[in-house]
Amino acid sequence: MTILVTGGAGFIGANFIIDWLKQSNEQVINFDKLTYAGNPDNLSSLTNNPLYHFIKGDITDTAQIKELLRKHQPRAIINFAAESHVDRSIHNPEEFISTNIIGTFRLLESCRDYWDKLEINKKEQFRFIHISTDEVYGSLDKNAAAFTENSKYEPNSPYSASKASSDHLVRSYFHTYDFPAITTNCSNNYGPYQFPEKLIPLIIHNSINLKALPIYGDGLQVRDWLYVSDHCSAIRRVLKDGNPGEVYNIGGLNEKTNLEIVHTVCDILNYSKPSKDPIIKDYNSLISFVDDRAGHDRRYAINASKIENELNWKPKETFETGISKTVQWYLNNESWVNNITSGTYLNWIHKNYK
Ligand code: NAD
Ligand code: TYD
Repeated sequence: MTILVTGGAGFIGANFIIDWLKQSNEQVINFDKLTYAGNPDNLSSLTNNPLYHFIKGDITDTAQIKELLRKHQPRAIINFAAESHVDRSIHNPEEFISTNIIGTFRLLESCRDYWDKLEINKKEQFRFIHISTDEVYGSLDKNAAAFTENSKYEPNSPYSASKASSDHLVRSYFHTYDFPAITTNCSNNYGPYQFPEKLIPLIIHNSINLKALPIYGDGLQVRDWLYVSDHCSAIRRVLKDGNPGEVYNIGGLNEKTNLEIVHTVCDILNYSKPSKDPIIKDYNSLISFVDDRAGHDRRYAINASKIENELNWKPKETFETGISKTVQWYLNNESWVNNITSGTYLNWIHKNYK
């Protein structure tokens, strides 16, 4: 049997495939456009694994997807493919509309057509898992209750609006066509292979290179952080036992301000890789408050009791264990980050951030 993963060369998709092949003998096809965020290096450990296949392609390309489905006959699709960075969506929203909305729509259409023609038992077993974000629910006040699956959709950035739109399409395919789709809405992930434009890898990379650590606004925005392999285990649980048409919120029970995150990372680095610079002895001294992100959401928090009660899933990592592993991974893989920062990413940073 085969599962098809879209966007598997990115951060979460790559972790999902690596973890999948540690616990299953089922073949995985990774279908990825290889945008700036898609890095085949993330999966170099699987080069000789006969169960792993990479196909370069775009989820907006209906003909290619239909051919892929016909040829490989997957029993499930896990859709990670997306433009995922809020700051980029503020500067250039077009790609977000194309991939996250039109791409999800075309993928749904092709998959529905494929599913519709499956024989009855395969049709019953088929699943389409759509990976989404807690950002679709908008921003929470300091003491407001965490997001549940019934929270109102109030997306505030072009990124979250495009993901919200894709979630609505997925929902409509279940309600209109009985298409067996499930949506997961997850909080902020961190861990190995995260592109160094996102907060945690950016702080690690800038610290060890003695560059400024940019904190947007007052740094008191709150996110709920989940170690990526816990997210991957939740998706496997949803694929196995989740009910079609359902939505599952996934979170780490780790609400932290951005400043807390940055101090924690700097403190771990002060211990694990002390600065040799004669002036900068403490990485925390690199913190630099910069202009706030436009429309910056103040707080996200996830109530994950549905997946915990109905599917018996809980995160394994605490923030302390997850962040230590993450910092260590980046210290052990400096060349992975340097390859990225010396190429396309740098050009983009120059263009957009002068
Ligand atoms: P990422 O940006 O690291 O990776 C996205 C991947 O999708 C890349 O490999 C890219 O090449 C690929 N891709 C982009 N456009 C494509 C297209 N048109 N066709 C095929 N492939 C395409 O993102 P990520 O952080 O791994 O996030 C994966 C998914 O999880 C996204 O849908 C995102 O919205 C969601 N999510 C992310 C987080 C987080 O904290 N990173 C949290 C919740 C949900
Ligand atoms: P990010 O990793 O971009 O994830 P998201 O916007 O999806 O939550 O950012 C996490 C938080 O960190 C968010 O509140 C923005 C903030 N942030 C900074 O303060 N400085 C930075 O350089 C970056 C990239 C993010």
